[in-house]
Amino acid sequence: MLVLALETSCDETSCSLIKDGRVVLSNIISSQAKLFEKYGGVVPEIASRKHVELIVPVISEALEKSGKKLADIDAVAVTKGPGLVGALLTGISAGKGISLSLDVPLIGVNHLEGHIASNYLTHSELKPPFICLLVSGGHTHILKVLDYTDIQIMGRTRDDAAGEAFDKVARAIGFPYPGGPKLDTAATKGNPDAYKLPITRFKDNPYDFSFSGLKTAVLNILNNCRQKGESINVADISASFQMTVAKTLVRNTMEAMESESIVNLAVAGGVAANSGLREEIAKACNKREFTSFFPPIDLCTDNAAMIGSAAYYRLIKGEKDDLSLDAQPSLRIGYPQKTV
Ligand code: KG4
Ligand code: ZN
Repeated sequence: MLVLALETSCDETSCSLIKDGRVVLSNIISSQAKLFEKYGGVVPEIASRKHVELIVPVISEALEKSGKKLADIDAVAVTKGPGLVGALLTGISAGKGISLSLDVPLIGVNHLEGHIASNYLTHSELKPPFICLLVSGGHTHILKVLDYTDIQIMGRTRDDAAGEAFDKVARAIGFPYPGGPKLDTAATKGNPDAYKLPITRFKDNPYDFSFSGLKTAVLNILNNCRQKGESINVADISASFQMTVAKTLVRNTMEAMESESIVNLAVAGGVAANSGLREEIAKACNKREFTSFFPPIDLCTDNAAMIGSAAYYRLIKGEKDDLSLDAQPSLRIGYPQKTV
């Protein structure tokens, strides 16, 4: 089954041609990140307009690179949410147009399910059940993936997402948007034990996270230094923050795996690119004889190939959408659903 997939939920315009959910024929990603550097973050209206400009060239390039023609496509997949409504609508409208003109099924995909699926693209041996640590700019979840489309939530953040904490701390240190990867680079030269930072633990659910206290602790250290006119060791504060986030994510994830007796872990989302987290997970899994899977760096952040993979596992179950498909900016993943 050849799927043409589109991803436009935030500031990446992406199109991929993907076969049977696992073989990527092309995956073109046009990032607007550079454009948003001067604003310190994504400006939704500008992002939507950029998607409109980029979507057709990106689709043309993805088709050309795949060596396939429009007539070869069996289904069209689009990200339906969560994300920025205007940005999502650009991809959804383009997807509807292609599906209608080719008379092939259209399917809306949950962006977070896409992140999980990014691991299927390079790890052919990975199959459910497994635990997924999903760490992106807007979400931080420990998920029990029982089947490709059956996903149970074990833990989640109660405030900031890990990526959001990375970006906010990076911004306070002085790194331009998006700060997460820049903080990661700085951390490699720092001492992770230089600052003792708080780790939150919840009694009612040991797998839940909270990163806002940690973020505030770093901001206080930075403010105190600035007020006293002291210089800040950027590498040390970056390394200490990064290690605290990694340790928290690893501790909860290992406990979840042990409690469920599940030995396979897939890490997904933009923060899965973080070098400190990758190292800590690998160490913790080796110690317990667990196996960890990470997408390659370019598939950790937003891309259409992961959307095409997630779509495949729903399409083969007979699921599809019609032209009433709408953007769902606050779409959630898994069950049970809580209001937090
Ligand atoms: O998954 P993603 O591309 O977008 C969302 O769906 O949110 O994740 C983007 C997030 C941003 O917060 C970015 O700073 C973070 O992933 N990120 C990183 C790294 N690369 C991307 N955070 C820490 N270290 C990295 N190397
Ligand atoms: Zn994402």
